[in-house]
Amino acid sequence: MAKMEVKTSLLDNMIGVGDMVLLEPLNEDTVIDNLKKRFDHNEIYTYIGSVVISVNPYRSLPIYSPEKVEDYRNRNFYELSPHIFALSDEAYRSLRDQDKDQCILITGESGAGKTEASKLVMSYVAAVCGKGAEVNQVKEQLLQSNPVLEAFGNAKTVRNDNSSRFGKYMDIEFDFKGDPLGGVISNYLLEKSRVVKQPRGERNFHVFYQLLSGASEELLNKLKLERDFSRYNYLSLDSAKVNGVDDAANFRTVRNAMQIVGFMDHEAESVLEVVAAVLKLGNIEFKPESRVNGLDESKIKDKNELKEICELTGIDQSVLERAFSFRTVEAKQEKVSTTLNVAQAYYARDALAKNLYSRLFSWLVNRINESIKAQTKVRKKVMGVLDIYGFEIFEDNSFEQFIINYCNEKLQQIFIELTLKEEQEEYIREDIEWTHIEYFNNAIICDLIENNTNGILAMLDEECLRPGTVTDETFLEKLNQVCATHQHFESRMSKCSRFLNDTSLPHSCFRIQHYAGKVLYQVEGFVDKNNDLLYRDLSQAMWKAGHALIKSLFPEGNPAKINLKRPPTAGSQFKASVATLMKNLQTKNPNYIRCIKPNDKKAAHIFNEGLVCHQVRYLGLLENVRVRRAGYAFRQAYEPCLERYKMLCKQTWPHWKGPARAGVEVLFNELEIPVEEYSFGRSKIFIRNPRTLFKLEDLRKQRLEDLATLIQKIYRGWKCRTHFLLMRKSQIVIAAWFRRYAQQKRYQQIKSSALVIQSYIRGWKARKILRELKHQKRCEEAVTTIAAYWHGTQVRREYRKFFRANAGKKIYEFTLQRIVQKYFLEMKNKVPSLSPIDKNWPSRPYMFLDSTHKELKRIFHLWRCKKYRDQFTDQQKLIYEEKLEASELFKDKKALYPSSVGQPFQGPYLEINKNPKYKKLKDAIEEKIIIAEIVNKINRANGKSTSRIFLLTNNNLLLADQKSGQIKSEVPLVDVTKVSMSSQNDGFFAIHLKEGCEAASKGDFLFSSDHLIEMATKLYRTTLSQTKQKLNIEISDEFLVQFRQDKVCVKFIQGNQKNGSVPTCKRKNNRLLEVAVP
Ligand SMILES: Nc1ncnc2c1ncn2[C@@H]1O[C@H](COP(=O)(O)OP(=O)(O)OP(=O)(O)O)[C@@H](O)[C@H]1O
Ligand SMILES: [Mg+2]
Repeated sequence: MAKMEVKTSLLDNMIGVGDMVLLEPLNEDTVIDNLKKRFDHNEIYTYIGSVVISVNPYRSLPIYSPEKVEDYRNRNFYELSPHIFALSDEAYRSLRDQDKDQCILITGESGAGKTEASKLVMSYVAAVCGKGAEVNQVKEQLLQSNPVLEAFGNAKTVRNDNSSRFGKYMDIEFDFKGDPLGGVISNYLLEKSRVVKQPRGERNFHVFYQLLSGASEELLNKLKLERDFSRYNYLSLDSAKVNGVDDAANFRTVRNAMQIVGFMDHEAESVLEVVAAVLKLGNIEFKPESRVNGLDESKIKDKNELKEICELTGIDQSVLERAFSFRTVEAKQEKVSTTLNVAQAYYARDALAKNLYSRLFSWLVNRINESIKAQTKVRKKVMGVLDIYGFEIFEDNSFEQFIINYCNEKLQQIFIELTLKEEQEEYIREDIEWTHIEYFNNAIICDLIENNTNGILAMLDEECLRPGTVTDETFLEKLNQVCATHQHFESRMSKCSRFLNDTSLPHSCFRIQHYAGKVLYQVEGFVDKNNDLLYRDLSQAMWKAGHALIKSLFPEGNPAKINLKRPPTAGSQFKASVATLMKNLQTKNPNYIRCIKPNDKKAAHIFNEGLVCHQVRYLGLLENVRVRRAGYAFRQAYEPCLERYKMLCKQTWPHWKGPARAGVEVLFNELEIPVEEYSFGRSKIFIRNPRTLFKLEDLRKQRLEDLATLIQKIYRGWKCRTHFLLMRKSQIVIAAWFRRYAQQKRYQQIKSSALVIQSYIRGWKARKILRELKHQKRCEEAVTTIAAYWHGTQVRREYRKFFRANAGKKIYEFTLQRIVQKYFLEMKNKVPSLSPIDKNWPSRPYMFLDSTHKELKRIFHLWRCKKYRDQFTDQQKLIYEEKLEASELFKDKKALYPSSVGQPFQGPYLEINKNPKYKKLKDAIEEKIIIAEIVNKINRANGKSTSRIFLLTNNNLLLADQKSGQIKSEVPLVDVTKVSMSSQNDGFFAIHLKEGCEAASKGDFLFSSDHLIEMATKLYRTTLSQTKQKLNIEISDEFLVQFRQDKVCVKFIQGNQKNGSVPTCKRKNNRLLEVAVP
């Protein structure tokens, strides 16, 4: 899918200003503030026109991803926010498309991020240039040259854990398509003094530590090395380990990189052998020895190390030993040998180590160049990347700083030259009038240093070559004379005495006013370092080595090519190489990356304004902005300009039909921008002041807001309407579906209801039919049955004549008769005895005779009872009648009754007739005596009893004294109204008399008798037969008895057993007599 092109601009979402030409007001503070503001927002890159300023973030930011590469690829420089990729892209595209050789100049102080920046540029170019196996191999080799050079050329310093201790310039070569072909690397001034001595807190070059940490035991043995750093004098120990750096792993990376770059195995080994030899050289120590001629001589303390070095390098031990002890000076045909004292021996040793190492480094660079050089002869386009040390201002500045700062002066000069040139060229190209720009040209300082006749470097060389005693002081003296009048040279003792009283200028120093500030140089060591002396004996010893690489490093040692001329001094070498570099750069289109270090602590997020201010000053950034802004601060091609601001004018918005330039003209006229504020170039509009641009930007922002509101309004309207339409459509769909659904539901309901009704009706009909059918069937069956019966009857009637149809009945009747007969006959024999109390009766033989059997039993019983009664005499009949009467009166009413049943009623127990005692009594009675018996009359006063003769005649009731037989009371039966007695088992009874009768004057009688039942029965019967009235017999456990005027209650209670089985009577009070019945 094609990526959607979004037109953006550097001006979008700016933090501070993305391009410092837009700073207003422009001064040091605003520049630093702007950098700080952006740094705080992780915007580490800022432009000054086409120059990129990079502030080291000291932490990895997510801004170098492949996506970012894609973002910046093929985009205009000012289209996106500032980035090193934008510069790389611009450089690469103008190289590829416009056939312009490019150089990328990266400057800044140690730790500012130059090396990182150069690697970023290379990786960007590698990512966007052509692809393919061959191209990829070239790319890989170019990229892998970095780890090799870093291992040998970088070291940990107090400023940077991976500080490049050499300057590097690399030309990357491309073909016409922009595919990389190869490269050439140039190195400048390796800091070789580090090999033998490192300042506190710093290390030697990485490779030493990597070798000792990462090499296998086998390799170490072969190189005659030990893993322990402390064994080696050349290795500083206080910072042997660097935080976050794995030397062993890096060693593997370096070996791998060497392989990729194209080092043969034996070459890599040779390199490591040289490294080992350098390390071991440091361990050679000397002791003084006096010689006969009085001269001091040095001697090697322990020859073991020397021996090993010689074995390693294939040098004859005696040759090397001699080289450390003697110095041979050849002049014309003469050879003079002098002995070395201990100090000189150490000097020689260190000089050898430094030379060996720096030559090895140069060899490495050449070897890499050999590998990566372009294989074709076709015309090449070149992109140079310069990663060189920036300006150095330390407390103690020496020869190295002087050289470095000289290089930076040259770079600044070329920067000014090229920037101005470019600016001028652009003006010419665009047909804009060029106005002169005031700026500081540092050519004068360059001249102070490099002038061939009286430049400082020339003075130094002259001093070094001069016969006689040459010291640093004599050199300073010379400077004091020659340069005294130079504006930028300052020295306490200078000839013109300008600084005689300046105490900040020590005597052994001189000060140069560089473009970036004043630097004080210690003159000590200048001469020596410039001489860079290695005794010929040593170089000859080296040339004699069996080790091919070492031999090749010291060609001057070859006696056949003896050259009595002194080798060029370090200063002049450097000057020459800087000159070549400048020449090289001048032919190319420059691109600048200026690195700034935000703090001294290698820490993220810290922005030390003082430190940055210092760098801003010596990098000349302000100067840079001024140059860039001198004429017109801002320029932009017509198309993007029109594209960006077209909304500010009705004619150009939304589309401008004509050429872009005309559009911009219309636009600027419409906006009434003063004519002096802008100029029309051929392809670009030039804006003089950032103010104007910001005004445009403000207007644009305002207009964009209005437009956004408008778009928002239309969009909202559109969105609401589409939403409404969608809702309406949805509503219709939903309604339709709902209706359909409802109808479907209704239909299904109707259908199921219809089915139910249908089934009910069908059922009902079916049941009706079934009922009819059943009825019909029953009718048919009935008819059939009736017909059958009828037929049967008919037939039977028809055939009865022919059959003995009544035989069955007759047989039945006969059989029945026989059975009955047999029953009766058998019964005759089974009849039980005639005793009425015999309960036996035979069992019935047939069920159907049950009632007959029972009836027969009843009749038989009645009959035998009759038989039994027939035997009775009249006397007996009377007795039974009386007994029957008694039973009717008392059975189940009086507890005494059952005991009376067995007693025969005798009536006259007392035989009055026979007893003479009662003669008188007998004579008084004429009637028949029914009862004569002794009874106990109860005394009403105390309940005690007295015996009396009780006599009942047909009409009277008589009471007589038992002893005398004298009649005490006579009561006619008609006056007896009632007899009362208890229901219990006692013989008490009361005879109530009619009120007012004669006999009743003393009241009712209360008796007790053993024959109560008989007496009461007989009294009753006699009364009934005589008076034809039934005597009232009351059975109750409580009854009243009339005694004279009083009524006394007689109460029967269930008495205790105290008195045995005889009932007792007791008067309780006037009104109560209590009879206790046991
Ligand atoms: N763009 C970056 N992103 C993240 N870290 C960075 C970046 N640039 C630099 N650094 C950090 O800063 C350290 C120093 O950077 P670098 O080695 O490039 O400095 P230099 O300018 O080359 O210093 P010298 O002059 O000493 O060689 C790096 O090791 C890295 O940790
Ligand atoms: Mg570096």
